[in-house]
Amino acid sequence: MTRKLYIRTFGCQMNEYDSAKMVDILGASEPIETTEQPEDADIILFNTCSVREKAQEKVFSDLGRARDLKAIKPNLIIGVGGCVASQEGEAIVRRAPYVDVVFGPQTLHRLPDLINARQDTGRPQVDISFPEIEKFDHLPAPRVEGPTAFVSIIEGCSKYCSFCVVPYTRGTEVSRPSIDVLTEIAELAQQGVREVTLLGQNVNAFIDAHASIDFTGLLELVCEVPGIERVRFTTSHPKEFSARLIEAFARLPKLASYVHLPVQSGSDRILAAMKRGYTALEYKSIIRRLRAARPDVAISSDFIVGFPGETEEDFEATMRLIDDCGFESAYSFIYSPRPGTPAADLPDAVSAEEKLARLQRLQARIDQNSRQLGESMQGSEQIVLIEGPARKNPQELMGRTSNNWVVNFAPSSQEAVGDFVQLRIEAALPHSLRGAPL
Ligand code: SAM
Ligand code: F3S
Repeated sequence: MTRKLYIRTFGCQMNEYDSAKMVDILGASEPIETTEQPEDADIILFNTCSVREKAQEKVFSDLGRARDLKAIKPNLIIGVGGCVASQEGEAIVRRAPYVDVVFGPQTLHRLPDLINARQDTGRPQVDISFPEIEKFDHLPAPRVEGPTAFVSIIEGCSKYCSFCVVPYTRGTEVSRPSIDVLTEIAELAQQGVREVTLLGQNVNAFIDAHASIDFTGLLELVCEVPGIERVRFTTSHPKEFSARLIEAFARLPKLASYVHLPVQSGSDRILAAMKRGYTALEYKSIIRRLRAARPDVAISSDFIVGFPGETEEDFEATMRLIDDCGFESAYSFIYSPRPGTPAADLPDAVSAEEKLARLQRLQARIDQNSRQLGESMQGSEQIVLIEGPARKNPQELMGRTSNNWVVNFAPSSQEAVGDFVQLRIEAALPHSLRGAPL
């Protein structure tokens, strides 16, 4: 019998990637079909995020709904994976006894065994251990969906920023052997993938000590894989954004002109309290040198507003940094205290209203930058990789520029998904561009 699987994913691209792997791993052990309707499912999985309190609380409200479904369908399997699972472990089963399996980001490959054990023993199963890189040795060959793919190159994080739970939920940095990464990319390319995004919390901490290959070395090799025409990576950390990596943007044309480089704050006092390991000036120097190496590079970032003790002056320093760097886009968040992290114990005098006002000012400035950048691309010619039909109009196609802008266009005739085509940019909308084939 084919079982139906519903997965609800919260949080970052790592979680999106892990969810795709859950489908693959369950599909390799039994006939599985995915569904968008939780009511139809035989297995419901929540891939959770604990980076902010809101995301964490959302999981428990959604779990309540799954419990109602289980009341109607007693054989329904409910699983909780991801960072909340990793942090809470057994406590999830205590709080929600109808949950059948709890697994962490590093044990998702054990999902079929955990579900079987649940069925055999009648008891909920919890496995949130960190068996290092074992996960990848047990994953089936990657499935290809379209001309782009994500490839995880490093798991976990060893930076211990004072506000962040990730090092505790995903474990410390462990790189995959470069030969495994390259083999996976070659297999993807053989199946028609033209663009890969190398994935990790801090991809530029990647190291294959055995083969003496650092992150830049890996990029060089990935660019050599036949069939791969464009290479992206996310997320990188300013602390390890080496001169060698910057210089790679001048000599590796397949590297996309886009870098997501979280800065968090423009105040050195706050950056030190966050334990980020760089100053605002050092960050700006990276951006300046990167633009010298690759003039059309677009930079996006992450910001935390209202970190404990952030004064108006600190916030102004962040706004100045935004003006200096001209970010193409950004994710920005109000600081959310996370249990078990050092910053959670710091005194915090700034009111919630003030934090929200700062967030809105910051977002307005980024939106303004983003609009200006979009408008500056009008009239230019851009090469896009066609990813599929346009979201709003399936008669049209959607492609992405090297600097990560989505471009929708009416095809002339011969363009197909997976092709790189040259477009003239005719109009800039708030979050996308319109183009026409040349
Ligand atoms: N590896 C990335 C880096 O170099 O900073 C960040 C990964 S983190 C999961 C993604 C983003 O979530 C961070 O860049 C930060 O802006 C935000 N974040 C993390 N902890 C947070 C907290 N306690 N409150 C608000 N935002 C937070
Ligand atoms: Fe979190 Fe800092 Fe690592 S934001 S994921 S501890 S680089």
